[in-house]
Amino acid sequence: MKTIFSGVQPTGTVTLGNYIGAFKQFTELQHEYDCRFCIVDQHAITVQQDPAELAKTIRSLAAIYIASGIDPEKSTLFIQSEVPAHAQAGWMMQCISYIGELERMTQFKDKSEGKEGVSAALLTYPPLMAADILIYNTDIVPVGEDQKQHVELTRDLAERFNKRYGEVLTIPEVRIPKNGARIKSLQDPLKKMSKSDPNKKGTITFLDTSKEIEKKVKSAVTDSEGIVKFDVANKPGVSNLLTIESALNGNSISDLEAKYEGLGYGAFKAGVAEAIIEHLSPLQERYEELLNSSELDAHLDKGAERAQKIASATLKKMEAAMGIGRRR
Ligand code: TYM
Repeated sequence: MKTIFSGVQPTGTVTLGNYIGAFKQFTELQHEYDCRFCIVDQHAITVQQDPAELAKTIRSLAAIYIASGIDPEKSTLFIQSEVPAHAQAGWMMQCISYIGELERMTQFKDKSEGKEGVSAALLTYPPLMAADILIYNTDIVPVGEDQKQHVELTRDLAERFNKRYGEVLTIPEVRIPKNGARIKSLQDPLKKMSKSDPNKKGTITFLDTSKEIEKKVKSAVTDSEGIVKFDVANKPGVSNLLTIESALNGNSISDLEAKYEGLGYGAFKAGVAEAIIEHLSPLQERYEELLNSSELDAHLDKGAERAQKIASATLKKMEAAMGIGRRR
């Protein structure tokens, strides 16, 4: 069975972009692949976090994974910092990374631009992400479009490692969803929907109430044409809403265009909001049940144990290949 690895940062709330680009893919893939899903808390601290808030968000993210449909018996769900092999292999990946290639990462440029006191770890974030993936001999990495460059760097680093030290690492492939690889802000449909967007009206979160969802979709930026048609270049707002509905209820874009033909944007937006609410409501209910259950801790304990077993075996091979530690 081929293996999958992916991770989500426990920062802020999970957005509809995260859900469509990542969680929804994960739940579909878990039946066909051997999956490992991670709460990447060590990545989260590359920018300063409030410790109490971070602890809460880690737990909340674990509940969101399961509420979205990840079966923790089938897939390995765990917290990055509870599996020390990530940081250990991350260091090794840093040792074979070049500063120049890390400075070229668009996420680093976006997050560091104009900021003073940028942490060294923001620059060395991608080698840690590479380690996350490579220590599980991962074949496929399902992510949204914005993480593609990091997975490509992971491939380069794995190839470099194998060339220098022998064939130890599996070269992973990226998997981007066909529909919803980059969900856009409802307020600025040229920008990706993001947790850190200061304009909260642009972002729907996994935990938004029906009222909030209706309100945000109603005020989504569209255009003055009044025709529901998919055309990213000329109608980015309408196209984004069509993508969201299609990703959530599985109707094709052309079916949705037919559904809304002759109707104005009022009816269109009401339909999109309804599709989001219908999809998220049962997941939100499950989330509430899970959040304070001991079930959650049991799953995370088991997940960390299973993950460490696989990861430490690869780590040992990497260390031996690089020549660190003792030869026995
Ligand atoms: P993060 O936490 O920013 O996002 C989690 C996942 O959500 C996807 N995503 C989106 N997809 C579609 N539309 C959007 N607007 C949108 N916004 C976010 C992301 O592409 C991602 O798949 N570096 C990673 C976390 C990570 C990781 C890994 C991922 C660490 N190690 C190893 C895969 C493998 C990140 O910051 O994702």
